[in-house]
Amino acid sequence: MQAVSLTILVTVIAQNVQTSDTRASRPHILFVLADDFGYHDIGYHGSEIKTPVLDRLALSGVRLENYYVQPICTPTRSQLMSGRYQIHTGLQHSIIWPTQPNGLPLDSPTLADKLREAGYSTHMVGKWHIGMYKKDYLPTSRGFDTYFGYLLGSEDYYTHFRCDGHLCGTDLRNNMDPVNNETGHYSTHLFTQKAIDIVNNYDVSKPLFLYLAYQAVHEPMQVPDSYMDKYQHIKDRDRRIYAGMVAAMDEGIGNLTEAFKAKGIWNNTLLVFSTDNGGQILCGGNNWPLRGWKGSLWEGGVHGVGFVYGRMLDEKMHGTVSQSLIHVSDWFPTLVSLAGGSLNGTQPLDGVNQWETINSGSASPRKELLHNIDPLFHKGKPAYNGTFDTSVRAALRIGDWKLITGNPGNGSWIPPPNIDTTLLHYEVKCSSHEEMTKNVWLFNIAKDPYEHVDLSDAYPSKVKEMLDRLAYYQSTAVSCRYPPGDPRANPALHGGFWGPWE
Ligand SMILES: *[C@@H]1O[C@H](CO)[C@@H](O)[C@H](O)[C@H]1NC(C)=O
Ligand SMILES: *[C@@H]1O[C@H](CO)[C@@H](O)[C@H](O)[C@H]1NC(C)=O
Ligand SMILES: *[C@@H]1O[C@H](CO)[C@@H](O)[C@H](O)[C@H]1NC(C)=O
Ligand SMILES: *[C@@H]1O[C@H](CO)[C@@H](O)[C@H](O)[C@H]1NC(C)=O
Ligand SMILES: *[C@@H]1O[C@H](CO)[C@@H](O)[C@H](O)[C@H]1NC(C)=O
Ligand SMILES: *[C@@H]1O[C@H](CO)[C@@H](O)[C@H](O)[C@H]1NC(C)=O
Repeated sequence: MQAVSLTILVTVIAQNVQTSDTRASRPHILFVLADDFGYHDIGYHGSEIKTPVLDRLALSGVRLENYYVQPICTPTRSQLMSGRYQIHTGLQHSIIWPTQPNGLPLDSPTLADKLREAGYSTHMVGKWHIGMYKKDYLPTSRGFDTYFGYLLGSEDYYTHFRCDGHLCGTDLRNNMDPVNNETGHYSTHLFTQKAIDIVNNYDVSKPLFLYLAYQAVHEPMQVPDSYMDKYQHIKDRDRRIYAGMVAAMDEGIGNLTEAFKAKGIWNNTLLVFSTDNGGQILCGGNNWPLRGWKGSLWEGGVHGVGFVYGRMLDEKMHGTVSQSLIHVSDWFPTLVSLAGGSLNGTQPLDGVNQWETINSGSASPRKELLHNIDPLFHKGKPAYNGTFDTSVRAALRIGDWKLITGNPGNGSWIPPPNIDTTLLHYEVKCSSHEEMTKNVWLFNIAKDPYEHVDLSDAYPSKVKEMLDRLAYYQSTAVSCRYPPGDPRANPALHGGFWGPWE
């Protein structure tokens, strides 16, 4: 009798130990999202802009070189937080403007909700930009234990002021509360410090999820002078300031990693670094040799900078390059699974779990990638009957093939402004007149990553197959929400701050 009880007791203890061991081994997750950081703007892509911290991390982690994000801000952030394409959340068109009553739908948990459910302590610092017209849409209502940052985008880096037409206000909050004592504190320093505070004060009994969404390196063009010292040779003013903004961000990430080390948790932290979209060439960014830039469905808009670093990654993966197709929507199932969480209770996901791809180099489970279908953007007439309407802005990847329809945005190839173009390996050219009138393009991205050769006339059946697939995706879409601005959003009605008004 006694012996039996003892056996049961031992078993119970063993199970407990095992559970707590498994839990303890779950990594902390640090997700750093840069804003408008271009493909050509990270050191290891051959940039004239130096990123020693990012390079060191990336070169001992896994560089994602077939990695995609959305062409603009709200869309990428919405997919990161939901694991779902914009056609399934109603955010197909543009961004959420400050006065629009819109947001990532509340019908599905966010990445932070799921990580919190899995036992993580969840914190966000930086730019949210996926809805704020009601309190229910704010980060601390959507899975984050704490939040400090901007609800919108395009603030002044020092005053944290944002104007939208004639409406102006401060956009900075601590959890739900307006913050008015950080004027003059450059946001890259401010956000880095807040992230470091979280690490320093963090209670090690729970794994940590920290989402740091820098304002850097989005316009306005602002950086403390000292960060531009080593870039005086860059004659283009915007590019020079941008280089300084990148330098400040790189330094901030270095400071944050030191805080993780000092806390003794860096060895068990998985870092994901990603941009939110391609660089904005009108504000110092660059995506050379990719075609197009931020806002377009060309590769320069969507082929993003990204890498993963972590000591817990399989040793054979340290310092490798992944050519597997990975998309920003994939982080949701990848990170929730890594955290030992469950994907129950979500609306159907469009992201796929990429952990094996990243951690052991196995083939990507992703065979297709819907870049977007934006029903509010039209160009020309349908080129085919009985399938997807090619006047609609859309792009789809199937394997190596990419189909683009409608008006994809400016498709010029823009070299960095300070480069001697005679030294470039590729021709510098603008879109031709023909490009400006047509509305269907087909590329083989593996063979032609810079989208020089349109194959749509040569492979009509491939075009038809991909249009049919777009028609299928469109049949699953919810209607697009792009409401008019609401005058009640006016910061003058809310103590001079942007924030919830309903
Ligand atoms: C602003 O106020 C908060 C809350 O009182 C405080 O923690 C923070 O240090 C203050 N910041 C500055 C720059 O004084
Ligand atoms: C990084 O830390 C150094 C040393 O404390 C500090 O001078 C610098 O401002 C920090 N940089 C950022 C971006 O936070
Ligand atoms: C992290 O792991 C490395 C390699 O296993 C080891 O050399 C280092 O001492 C560890 N650092 C900490 C802070 O545990
Ligand atoms: C998912 O499952 C967990 C564990 O069984 C449960 O606590 C949680 O409430 C579920 N979540 C949803 C959204 O259904
Ligand atoms: C599509 O159908 C219409 C009406 O039947 C016809 O006029 C048009 O030429 C067709 N367009 C194409 C591209 O086949
Ligand atoms: C595309 O952008 C380039 C560079 O800014 C510009 O020269 C060109 O006129 C633009 N093309 C169109 C169609 O707007």
